[in-house]
Amino acid sequence: MERTFIMIKPDGLQRSLVGEIIQRLENKGFTLVSLKLMKVSRELAEQHYDVHRDKPFFGNLVEFITSGPVVASVWEGEGVVAAARKIIGTTNPLNAEPGTIRGDYGISIGRNLIHASDAVETAQQEIKLWFREEELVSWEPSLKSWIYE
Ligand code: RTP
Ligand code: MG
Repeated sequence: MERTFIMIKPDGLQRSLVGEIIQRLENKGFTLVSLKLMKVSRELAEQHYDVHRDKPFFGNLVEFITSGPVVASVWEGEGVVAAARKIIGTTNPLNAEPGTIRGDYGISIGRNLIHASDAVETAQQEIKLWFREEELVSWEPSLKSWIYE
């Protein structure tokens, strides 16, 4: 079964949207595999956003992600990587569709509330970067046969 990495950014915590965001992913039918509240080190933030190292917004991005606690999580389900990106909405919240998390709750690109892995391979790398193997909990949701045909 596919897994993805999802992080609620510091603005999501300051805006008290943790419950709302987790609720949307649970409601869809995806399974929570790990969850932790943490203050991100500069080293971890820079590694996580390494692909953007040469972009002009990199400094601000790292500053922001390390500014307060985040909620890091791993979710499991059929097609969860692409589906989570749809639930979250496009990068700039002003252009994000209503009904998506960014579309419903955000305005600025640098305050877009949440991160989700952008591909299956990236998800595997990010889960490894943020979690130890023993922190990932495999379990069988009892509702599974009511969610999957
Ligand atoms: P994320 O990685 O955080 O889930 O966001 P994303 O895939 O939708 O967007 P990405 O291109 O990976 O950009 C990472 C984060 O950098 C900030 N950003 N600022 N000022 C700008 O032009 C700009 N572009 C990107 C955003 O906060 C974005 O989430
Ligand atoms: Mg990205």
